[in-house]
Amino acid sequence: MQIVRESIDLAAVLTGWRAAGETIALVPTMGALHAGHMALIDKARTRADRVIATIFVNPLQFGIGEDLDRYPRQEQEDAAKLEAAGANLLWMPSVADLYPRGFATTVSVAGVSEQWEGAHRPGHFDGVATVVAKLFLTTMPDFAIFGEKDFQQLAVIRRMTADLGIPIEVIGLPTVRDGDGLALSSRNALLSPEHRELAATLARRLREAAGAIGDGGNVDAILERTITALEADGFGPIDYVAYVESDSLEPIERYRDGGRLIAAVFLGDVRLIDNRSVISATA
Ligand code: PAJ
Repeated sequence: MQIVRESIDLAAVLTGWRAAGETIALVPTMGALHAGHMALIDKARTRADRVIATIFVNPLQFGIGEDLDRYPRQEQEDAAKLEAAGANLLWMPSVADLYPRGFATTVSVAGVSEQWEGAHRPGHFDGVATVVAKLFLTTMPDFAIFGEKDFQQLAVIRRMTADLGIPIEVIGLPTVRDGDGLALSSRNALLSPEHRELAATLARRLREAAGAIGDGGNVDAILERTITALEADGFGPIDYVAYVESDSLEPIERYRDGGRLIAAVFLGDVRLIDNRSVISATA
């Protein structure tokens, strides 16, 4: 596996691959890789001849007071994992390379980015869309692979890619979970042992709520009950628990095909997000 830092070195590798007619899949990450990220790499390998992983802790997508400074960084371990998984290239750009002096452009996706994560993390999705647009345009892969773990992020990236006519197929993959159901996340490492044990309750509460909505229950009442239960469990503050349409992220009031349950909650000072599909019991 080649490791490159400068985009000029990346360009040289890409030119060779393209000349050989090879297809390319891109897996963007912020590092601190876990089995969820590795599932994206495995998928990428099945879709394309060459797999590029990127590691870039993108300052643009962190708000003031968020965890940019304590975001876990472990380049060597990450590189070893990617190599073992069969990635062909690891691109680790510097902030100065991606955002040189005078950088003045923001990609902003209206609508789908505005509620939920967008409301609780102002500017977050502008940062995500801007960096992903840069990663896309610098590497121009055939495929780009993202996790459903960040469900709204995936919807924002799909919208941006379609709106700008970027000829890349965006592929979403189901969330990889620990044995107890907790969605894998680089931030889980920041949980205390007690909180780590409690954290899996979030997935359980969402599973219960999804079942109740799928059974045709009153959505508002179920969401309220879920929030009350999470608070009693020891989570809080609860940023949101919502039932939404999967492409637009607009809230929906009763069971509908393609609806998604999404949530963001704090456990101590660690913010957890999770989501799950809702399937009708009668379907
Ligand atoms: P990061 O949080 O490192 O996640 C990189 C990719 O891994 C994202 O597509 C995310 O959805 C996916 N992922 C994370 N946990 C997962 C899990 N448990 N199961 C499956 N996939 C999982 O998301 C970002 O970085 C950044 O916002 C980025 C897109 C790289 C832009 O900076």
